[in-house]
Amino acid sequence: MFEAHVQDIAQEAFTGSLPGDARVDALVVAAHERYRDHADGAVADYIPILSEADPAWFGITLAGVDGTLHSVGDTAVSFSIQSISKAFIFALACDARGHEFVHDRIGVNNTGLAFNSVVAIELNDGSPMNPMVNAGAIATTALLPGDSSDALWESVRGGLSRFAGRELDIDAEVYGSEAETNHRNRAIATLLQSYGRLDRDPLAAVDVYTRQCAIAVSAADLAVMGATLADGGVNPVTGERVVSAEAARDTLAVLAGCGMYERSGEWLFEIGIPAKSGVSGGIVAISPGKGALGTFSPPLDSAGTSIRGQRACAYLSRALGLNLFASAPVHGRTGAASTPKGS
Ligand code: DON
Repeated sequence: MFEAHVQDIAQEAFTGSLPGDARVDALVVAAHERYRDHADGAVADYIPILSEADPAWFGITLAGVDGTLHSVGDTAVSFSIQSISKAFIFALACDARGHEFVHDRIGVNNTGLAFNSVVAIELNDGSPMNPMVNAGAIATTALLPGDSSDALWESVRGGLSRFAGRELDIDAEVYGSEAETNHRNRAIATLLQSYGRLDRDPLAAVDVYTRQCAIAVSAADLAVMGATLADGGVNPVTGERVVSAEAARDTLAVLAGCGMYERSGEWLFEIGIPAKSGVSGGIVAISPGKGALGTFSPPLDSAGTSIRGQRACAYLSRALGLNLFASAPVHGRTGAASTPKGS
């Protein structure tokens, strides 16, 4: 799936740190140049207003754990965060409720089905299965602190803002467009309630979840948010601890298994880092201890993931040595078949 677009790029080893700033800048620019004319995919239209996005938009930012940003293209364009919010809301839930609670209450296994599957709930005795599909995300949002819907919304908005290092807010037009058409998510929440899996009113929980998905971000914001998870829960730009190191670790583990829905295995096989996509065209992809990529380009594949974005992630994962599984013999050790590249 991605291989054809990156097979000429050498796989650098994960061992060590990111290359120097000039090299990172050059590779980020090269990834943008390489894929900006790729016009495959279709802009999402099941949330009507998303269909108005410009299919040519394409931005890439890499944020290092030292707080340095490397950006090219449309990295300041604002778009709704959509499902990418699920990753950070889960981190906040882990932080607030703990490892065991979220494991038991939500689950951490892939459904093997689409992000908005109703069948997945029925096949699993009412379990939402994991926090990255819509069922699990609605249930996870409902776990955050807040006695009223307003207080819950503030937990969501404030928490995502701390990840981004700036005050984020809702795109009211996107919220309105999705709130008018989100019958399926309301059905999912009501089904969860029928299984006793939701502590809040289902329609109120869906409403806050829908606002959460409409929060406006840029590719640069996504990179900083992801770099906060790469940096053990500390925002590398503001220096603020947003979640515990355990919550960051747990989130990355679930992203690796479930972040790309039914294509998570393929993503890990090809790109090798935890990631999350959203239907407005964003992707966050995180290399623990190194940094994160935030990409934005609206045309999607059939699973709802940005096509230019995933190709850029595949390219940069190889070229920057982000892939967690790309080990190389420790420098200086004898007996290896060959000397590691770059040693
Ligand atoms: O609930 C929904 O369907 C949207 N607000 C978010 C879906 C989404 O981003 C799926 N990601 N690829």
